[in-house]
Amino acid sequence: SQRPEIDDAPIFTPTEEEFKDAIQYIASIRHQAEKYGICRIIPPTSWRPPCPLKEKSFWECQEFNTRVQQVDKLQNREPMKKRTQPRVQRKRKRRKRLRFGMTHRRPSSSADSEEKFGFQSGSDFTLEEFQKYADEFKQEYFGMKGSDEISLSEIKKHKKIWEPSVEEIEGEYWRIVIGPTDEVEVDYGADLDTATFCSGFTKLSSSDGNNKDPYGVSCWNLNNLRRLPGSVISLEDEDISGVVVPWLYVGMCFSSFCWHVEDHFLYSLNYMHFGEPKIWYGVPGGEAVKLEESMRKNLPKLFEEQPDLLHELVTQLSPSVLKSEGVPVYRSVQRPGEFVLTLPRAYHSGFNCGFNCAEAVNVAPVDWLPHGQCAVELYREQHRKTSISHDKLLLKAAKEAVRQFWMNLFNCKSGEEKYVWMNTCGKDGVLTNAIKTRVKMESVALEGNATLKSKKMDKDYDSVDRECFTCFYDLHLSAISCQCSPDRFACLNHTNLLCSCEMDRKIAFFRYSMEELNTLVAALEGDPTAVCWWGQKHLGLVCPSG
Ligand code: LMR
Repeated sequence: SQRPEIDDAPIFTPTEEEFKDAIQYIASIRHQAEKYGICRIIPPTSWRPPCPLKEKSFWECQEFNTRVQQVDKLQNREPMKKRTQPRVQRKRKRRKRLRFGMTHRRPSSSADSEEKFGFQSGSDFTLEEFQKYADEFKQEYFGMKGSDEISLSEIKKHKKIWEPSVEEIEGEYWRIVIGPTDEVEVDYGADLDTATFCSGFTKLSSSDGNNKDPYGVSCWNLNNLRRLPGSVISLEDEDISGVVVPWLYVGMCFSSFCWHVEDHFLYSLNYMHFGEPKIWYGVPGGEAVKLEESMRKNLPKLFEEQPDLLHELVTQLSPSVLKSEGVPVYRSVQRPGEFVLTLPRAYHSGFNCGFNCAEAVNVAPVDWLPHGQCAVELYREQHRKTSISHDKLLLKAAKEAVRQFWMNLFNCKSGEEKYVWMNTCGKDGVLTNAIKTRVKMESVALEGNATLKSKKMDKDYDSVDRECFTCFYDLHLSAISCQCSPDRFACLNHTNLLCSCEMDRKIAFFRYSMEELNTLVAALEGDPTAVCWWGQKHLGLVCPSG
């Protein structure tokens, strides 16, 4: 069998008490879980959220779009010839896809190798239709079907046929990926924005009043994760789809998610609402570079063609190959009602064993900050666009901490408020250290721009999110501009590339002076004078003692 022989990732079973605070619970398992990259969290048995997707009106009526995945090409494929024309997304007709036989097991051919490899848009389905499609595919693929007249549920009920085990499906999956003999095409309803489709969790409505649905307010309801105190993402105002607004995944047998890390090396939390298992493979964050090297070594032609291949999420590599090259890989089988947590920079991949539905969102407990900083520095080197403004979140967390220090200092804590941000500060706190590192970086970059005229950013500066014209580094803290092109900005590292004008025509824009940033560090370390100064100057607070 081609089934990879790898160890299991850990499973955590929080008590009801431990399950009360998601962010605190994640922090409590972090040290153990990060050695594996992924882990499974099984909620207490009493936690059984209802799933609104199962309501008849939704199940039978609401359509979603799928993408077509060619499973046999995920690892073994010829590099595509370069196209000069942009690729047109073909939209297939559902009817054709519902026919089986040779449709999903055609002999391999390289006829379409002129297109860039990716997942083309597939048919639209309702959940009811997709379940039927997925079940029929699996029955036919594994030769499970006894008689055309009997539906899969009837067959299962009467146990008239053999059903492949998770291990058998896994063996077959890797056989297709590693040594394909046929074409196997499946559809995946992936990355469905829950803001437009629907979330699998109940949402609170304004009419709920005091009679609050416990699952609507639960901190494990992925719609609420973005608002949890202690998560840096809670400071993001924009509805970034997939990062702060969850995405839904409607899977069928062999539908895959290929090796990738989360944007900005964020944590992710994935919950399975219903259906057949999802098999996960995870690599600890500390081994990310090793995985990338191994992928490059094993798939040199694909990387030559597309150096940023891993950002495309279209490539698998057998966990056995990774393991043989010293990359530790762990496995987890997620079932309905269970969470899978992925840790910062932990590569993960996997596939579904049959019809199922999962939902996922990113999480950012404060210990994510150094990983996020590392991510934006790598993005800068790779000239890759960012999805969030790391500096904006970092500065917001720091300001929130100063506000809490101030409240603590003047004993004016309001209600139930917890000092979540203040508690991550002090001389050697995670938040203090994250700010210190960033301020140090800024002061080094400033040395190269010491001769420039400088100016404070005004309100107009914030009218758009600004990024360096060449490396796309986010320009929340500082930026360089030139009189020759006032709408063009560079980061402090790319002043010379901005234009060929003399230095005296260039201006450096700053949100805070170095002195202000150093006072911020002192405030986070707990210095009361610095707390008062920052509170008054930047947070509009008025110290009672004047
Ligand atoms: C999936 O199930 O396909 C995704 O949720 C995997 C992921 O990385 O979140």
